[in-house]
Formats: sequence, structure tokens, C-alpha cells
Amino acid sequence: MTQQTNIAIFASGGGSNAEALMTYFANHEKIKIALVITNVESAGVIAKAYKFGIPSRFIAKKDFLDAEIVSTLLSDFKINYIVLAGFLLLIPAYLINAFERRIVNIHPALLPAFGGKGMYGANVHKSVVAAKAKMTGITIHYCNADYDEGSIIFQAASKVFETDTAEDIAHKVLKLEHAYYPPTIERVVNL
Ligand code: GRF
Repeated sequence: MTQQTNIAIFASGGGSNAEALMTYFANHEKIKIALVITNVESAGVIAKAYKFGIPSRFIAKKDFLDAEIVSTLLSDFKINYIVLAGFLLLIPAYLINAFERRIVNIHPALLPAFGGKGMYGANVHKSVVAAKAKMTGITIHYCNADYDEGSIIFQAASKVFETDTAEDIAHKVLKLEHAYYPPTIERVVNL
């Protein structure tokens, strides 16, 4: 019997990356998106999970600090990997320790550039414009106890033109994210 790997997606927002992952793994023989966890009760990702028949759970920020609550949920769903897709809370140490090299994040820039606390969503792309950077892109990396500092698994770059707005960049970067995040997760799980 082939061993199945169960993934929990953690997301705080609209969940377009989560949707790309759910689509990619919908009929996968070994990898299943088994659970979606969000810290935002109204997050768009909840409806996306529902559409795919994937259970979702809301966990309030304060409850994320409660190892008992989160660990019980993850073990109930037999979760092997955690994939962060636009998740805005810092991952607590107890989870980093329990899932060493089994938590993966995506960042919408070429780390170490434009990373760290406060560097998320539009802030990242606005900083890219302000710095007149010639290139930006995506970084898929393991998650450690600090924002955006775990070891890098994959990067893809995209040119920034002088005329690009933060929205133009966000659009280009999201396309890269959707194209590369699912197959990179597949590769990480199969390592
Ligand atoms: C993505 O750009 C991701 O890299 C970042 O937040 C954005 C989330 O978009 N961390 P979505 O919720 O997946 O649409």
C-alpha cells in the first residue's frame, strides 16, 4: 500500500495559493490536502476549501499559542506537513520543533531581500518599487522560528520594469507562486 502524506494548509487571506495547491493535489495518489487552518474567521480560503470538500478550522490568534489545541487538531487529521500560504502569524516554537523541516512557506520576493517582520502582501511589492529593484520573484523555504529565515528550497525571478506598480508586481509574482508552489511541495514531500 502506498503511504499517504497529509498536508495542512495554513492561510489568513483569499487563498489563491491554497486553491492552486488544492487543485494540483485533488487527485494525487500519495499527497492529500487534508485540512485548512485559518486565523481569520472571514478568510476567503474557507470557501475555497469547502468547494474542494476539504475541512477547514478557525483558530484564533491566542489559541495558536496553545500547543494542546493545535497539536490535537493536527494529530486528529494525521497531518505530516504544514504548508503556509499567505499565513500571517509567526509559527510558534512548539510547532517548529514538532514539524522540523516539515513546514514550508512561500514569500513573494527573492529572500533575503524584502523579507522579515512586516514584509507581507502589498508591503513587499511597494518596497520593491521604492528600492527600484530590477528583479523580484518568489522564495519557497523551510520555516524556522524567525520570519522568512529558514533554508531556501526554491526561487524563481521576474523582471521589474521601471513602469511597474506594486499591483503589477503582485500580479506577476502571484503567477509564479501558483505555477511553482504546488510542484515544489510535491518535491519536498518526496525527498
Ligand atoms: C502571496 O503573495 C504569498 O506569497 C504571501 O501572501 C500572498 C497570499 O496570497 N505570503 P493568497 O492568499 O494565496 O491569494
